[in-house]
Amino acid sequence: MTIPAPGRIRPRRLRRTPALRRLAAQTRLHPADLVLPVFVREGLDEPRPLTSMPGVLQHTRDSLRHEAARAVEAGIGGIMLFGVPAHRDAVGSGATDPDGILNVAVRDVVAEVGDALVVQADLCLDEFTDHGHCGVLTPSGVVDNDATLERYAAMALAQAEAGAHLVGLSGMMDGQTGVVRDALDAAGHHDVAVLAYAAKYASAFYGPFREAVESQLEGDRRTYQMDPANRREAAREVAIDVAEGADVVMVKPAMSYLDVLADVAASSPVPVWAYQVSGEYAMIEAAAARGWIARRSAVTESVLSIRRAGADAILTYWATELAGWLAEEQ
Ligand code: PBG
Repeated sequence: MTIPAPGRIRPRRLRRTPALRRLAAQTRLHPADLVLPVFVREGLDEPRPLTSMPGVLQHTRDSLRHEAARAVEAGIGGIMLFGVPAHRDAVGSGATDPDGILNVAVRDVVAEVGDALVVQADLCLDEFTDHGHCGVLTPSGVVDNDATLERYAAMALAQAEAGAHLVGLSGMMDGQTGVVRDALDAAGHHDVAVLAYAAKYASAFYGPFREAVESQLEGDRRTYQMDPANRREAAREVAIDVAEGADVVMVKPAMSYLDVLADVAASSPVPVWAYQVSGEYAMIEAAAARGWIARRSAVTESVLSIRRAGADAILTYWATELAGWLAEEQ
């Protein structure tokens, strides 16, 4: 068998030098497109490292302000706050208490950074409930969709009062976007943006996050988060959230759902963000710690793949560090 020579068509021409590769690059990462998720723990004296997320901390109120200031210096686009309360109950009272840890943290960070970052708050009850579900339960233990919506509306108001620029609805209750939009508008918070976790899957890759927020969950979230088998359903979820007034839609997790992300990016009329979740972080850190993959290039490639699939912005625990690398490469 004779192998035909490539002749005139030689794709390698554009790969020959760093300058050619840089000019030919179709996708670029920029610090402004990165959002840093952070955890703040009520009643903590010292920041606490997380075993399953090496390099990530549960912050004190003080260390959180410091982390936010570093994020500003790195030029990233935003920060997403998760609160870990000292006490929990069946309805997640801490979520709507103005003195609850998440609302306090929003005020702290806004006081620290003002408008230099988009200050975002996770709008979900799971960190605040003693059963660990994202909503309140019926007497028989099922997550009660419509009763949960009332809690979300109250939580949105508490976060808006605290100064959040954007609320991130990660609970996957039907109707959550519309209810929260209406509640914000009725209270005069027309300017607070709503990020809808439109396509959020019931994923094993949230494992390390459960340590980070000291989750009380037993069982799983498969009656409200999406089935990993489903691709078409994401379009439906996005359409609903957009119709209900979502300013941004999210696909989560990212790397195992790049097909879904590409679909959503191709059709969404609003910006599409993706969340590179705790398990994605942990996998790369674990392999890198063993010397099995090159950490910096694996991190960069993973985030680039999410951008290439169509994410306009990416939530990643590497946001600040990656922004530093990008600045170095400039
Ligand atoms: C729910 C929420 C979760 C994550 C973000 N928001 C956990 C879950 O749905 O079980 C996971 C994020 C991550 O794994 O990094 N409030």
